[in-house]
Amino acid sequence: MIKKLTKYIGQFKFATIVTPFSMIGEVICEMVIPVLMGRIVDKGIYGKDMSYIIHTGLLMLAVALLGLMFGFIGAFMGAKASAGFARNLRKAMFDNIQMYSFANIDHFSPSSLVTRLTTDVTNMQNAFMMTLRMAMRAPASLIIAMTMSFLISPRLASVYLVAVTILSVFLFFVMGRASRYFKQVFERYDDLNESVQENVSAIRVVKAYVREDHEINRFQKAAMNIYLMFCKAELNISFISPAMMFVVYTCILLISWLGAHMIIQNSLTTGELMSLLTYCMNILMSLMMLSMVFVMITMSQASAKRILEVIEERSTLQDPEDPIREVSDGSICFDHVNFAYNAESKEPVLKDICLSIRSGESIGIIGGTGSAKSSLVNLISRLYDVTGGTLSVGGHDVKAYSIEALRGKVAVVLQKNVLFSGTIYENLRWGNRNATDEECREACRLACADEFIETMPDDYNTRIEQGGSNVSGGQKQRLCIARALMMKPRVIIFDDSTSAVDTATDAKIRKQLSESIPDTTKLVIAQRISSVENCDRIVVMDDGRINGVGTHEELLKTNRIYKEVYDSQVGSSDDADFDEKR
Ligand SMILES: Nc1ncnc2c1ncn2[C@@H]1O[C@H](COP(=O)(O)OP(=O)(O)OP(=O)(O)O)[C@@H](O)[C@H]1O
Ligand SMILES: [Mg+2]
Repeated sequence: MIKKLTKYIGQFKFATIVTPFSMIGEVICEMVIPVLMGRIVDKGIYGKDMSYIIHTGLLMLAVALLGLMFGFIGAFMGAKASAGFARNLRKAMFDNIQMYSFANIDHFSPSSLVTRLTTDVTNMQNAFMMTLRMAMRAPASLIIAMTMSFLISPRLASVYLVAVTILSVFLFFVMGRASRYFKQVFERYDDLNESVQENVSAIRVVKAYVREDHEINRFQKAAMNIYLMFCKAELNISFISPAMMFVVYTCILLISWLGAHMIIQNSLTTGELMSLLTYCMNILMSLMMLSMVFVMITMSQASAKRILEVIEERSTLQDPEDPIREVSDGSICFDHVNFAYNAESKEPVLKDICLSIRSGESIGIIGGTGSAKSSLVNLISRLYDVTGGTLSVGGHDVKAYSIEALRGKVAVVLQKNVLFSGTIYENLRWGNRNATDEECREACRLACADEFIETMPDDYNTRIEQGGSNVSGGQKQRLCIARALMMKPRVIIFDDSTSAVDTATDAKIRKQLSESIPDTTKLVIAQRISSVENCDRIVVMDDGRINGVGTHEELLKTNRIYKEVYDSQVGSSDDADFDEKR
């Protein structure tokens, strides 16, 4: 795992290497200071040598400044390296997410992806910085201080050895327990983010159903879970400080007592005792730092795993070796196609679909909710791959095309469609980056979107808010149709794209499209018979199978489902529901 992660240090290698060395530089300076201080006391004060005091004092100042400089470089470079590392991780994750197929997206929930991109990466960033700065510094400080103490007085230094051993065992035990809880905390962030994300993106629905209390409860539950976990972890950690202090003061007392005896016996100087006491703090602090690094690393392990999952997820859709880059015509052929969203699911969603569509033909698709109409058309632009049989467009298997070329020529107006924040022009140019204003206007005219756009304050320069929240459902659908038309596709698929458009406008759009793009194959999924009755052929879907194919008149005579829906819709209002009347 570490090997995989080090790849993302990338251009920040220099800072990554400089940081631990600067920290070691800082430690060395810190360790020299007690020695100099001891000398000032012994030689300067007791020897009453003022010039020695000034000399050594100045040297101490220089060493302190050098230490400060190393500290500054270490802190700056450490921050730079860790922020850069986080940047590289985020970029790698985001780039890979862009490659995901719909099946990959189904695998991760959006909220989990958001947590991984934010909290988990921040967690890694902190752990990386801590490791760079402390992983070398703390052991170096521990070893140097210990060696120095042994050089001064092996007898007194052995007190430290005993203290360090006791404290290490204690810290290892406590940190091990705490890190278990910390690990769980980050897994629970997913729940919290899911609650926030779902609530914020669907805040209107929450309000419409007066579900605020329920949502607040859900959020509080997730927040409470995290709070409790943190408390448990911190409870463990809170034992550390008193234990540390106990050991520190015991050490100081012991050293002072033993040291005083030794001074009287002339086997130790006062200056040496002072140095020893300073090293005491150094040794115990570095032990504390080491344990913190240990916690950080265990905590970040869970995050590292979650980050690598996103980076290493391979798109289930790959371009072939030598892809076809041109879709020659709009013919479509389903040959015994089967499809399931999950490899494990017992029954496929689409079963043995055989259907041949000529280029330029208009096909209506009708069927109850859940009868797999959307699943059927989503295969055409390879949003999902078939699990059995073959599907060809323009005479070639869809898998033989480069995905970009295929999607460039098969436009889909998705059932769950969105607009992006930006002007209407910007949204339309998603379909064709280089389109002129005139082309944008023409597409809007065909989709009957021009009428309402022209009444807007800045007409085509009006800003659409995120998700299209400032246009009505029907207006959004018409803009989405226009956006798809901009691509000048060979196949255009409307998945229930005029459900929110009134019947007269719907009819007008259909008429204009059949006149202006006669050579484009059109697939229209609809609930209203009136939306499909003029199509060249209509496909009736039932529970993942094709129940009947034919013209409106043929189906009225031969297809029971179609006839029943027709009767229900003509018999009552135009908007009769498909399922209710079946
Ligand atoms: N992303 C998905 N993952 C797993 N199962 C799915 C997914 N999308 C749809 N399904 C399942 O596939 C079946 C067919 O769904 P599909 O969306 O194709 O129906 P539909 O005919 O378009 O319905 P509607 O008229 O309501 O749009 C349903 O049983 C649904 O639960
Ligand atoms: Mg659908």
